[in-house]
Amino acid sequence: MRIALLGGTGDIGEGLALRWAFHSDHEVIVGSRDPDRARAKADEYETELSSRGRDVTVNGFVNEMAADRADVVVLSVPPAHVTDTIASVADGLDAGTILVSPAVAIERDDEGFHYDPPPAGSVTAEAAWAAPDGVPVVGAFHNLAADRLANLDVELAADTLLVGDDRDAKGTVRLLAEAIEGVRALDAGGVANAPEVESLTPLLINIARFNRGMYDVVVEFT
Ligand SMILES: NC(=O)c1ccc[n+]([C@@H]2O[C@H](COP(=O)([O-])OP(=O)(O)OC[C@H]3O[C@@H](n4cnc5c(N)ncnc54)[C@H](OP(=O)(O)O)[C@@H]3O)[C@@H](O)[C@H]2O)c1
Repeated sequence: MRIALLGGTGDIGEGLALRWAFHSDHEVIVGSRDPDRARAKADEYETELSSRGRDVTVNGFVNEMAADRADVVVLSVPPAHVTDTIASVADGLDAGTILVSPAVAIERDDEGFHYDPPPAGSVTAEAAWAAPDGVPVVGAFHNLAADRLANLDVELAADTLLVGDDRDAKGTVRLLAEAIEGVRALDAGGVANAPEVESLTPLLINIARFNRGMYDVVVEFT
């Protein structure tokens, strides 16, 4: 499959791009608002992969072109910009395209990090509302730590929870998620259940913050 990571120049985009390119034969496209930044990051990822004996092509395009070429489009942008990013690429999406939202809205105060969902109830729900008719949205990867993904020396051993109302789309994202070695995908229900999934992320960050030696905390369910 062709996977476009919009905002793939950022932290979670880098982690997912490296992992998919390293562990699978899926084609990875880095998207950015700036085509030069997209190409520079794509080159950087290729160099990292090549240094590990994995010679693959990673292309970089402006977000609109990246989405237009992809089967699956990951919205790896800040939560407040998920809907405008969908709007900016909507013309290139067709009913066969799957949108994936890893975005979590978090606020921080002196006590720690807190879930701060938008009025739709979750960013996943907001993305589903903003998606063109017939384009399914699946929430995934909310609880994976970007630094852990990007460090290819680290074994992941992590679950990712999937939420979405389109069974087939969720099945496709499950296969993509599990193409990454060490990731297991678990079905957490429909988009209505996204708040429970997204709200785990500030909890994980708080655990890392308040417990010595805990970095890039992820979850495994048994
Ligand atoms: N970091 C994590 O560990 C982690 C884990 C799970 C989920 N997430 C979620 O994944 C998403 C991305 O997180 P991140 O840490 O990768 O964020 P980030 O590094 O701060 O930003 C990702 C990319 O978003 C693009 N961007 C920035 N401002 C934008 C705007 N106004 N409009 C459109 N695009 C914009 C930028 O790409 P260009 O400037 O190249 O366009 C940037 O490189 C967030 O929603 C976050 O909640 C993050």
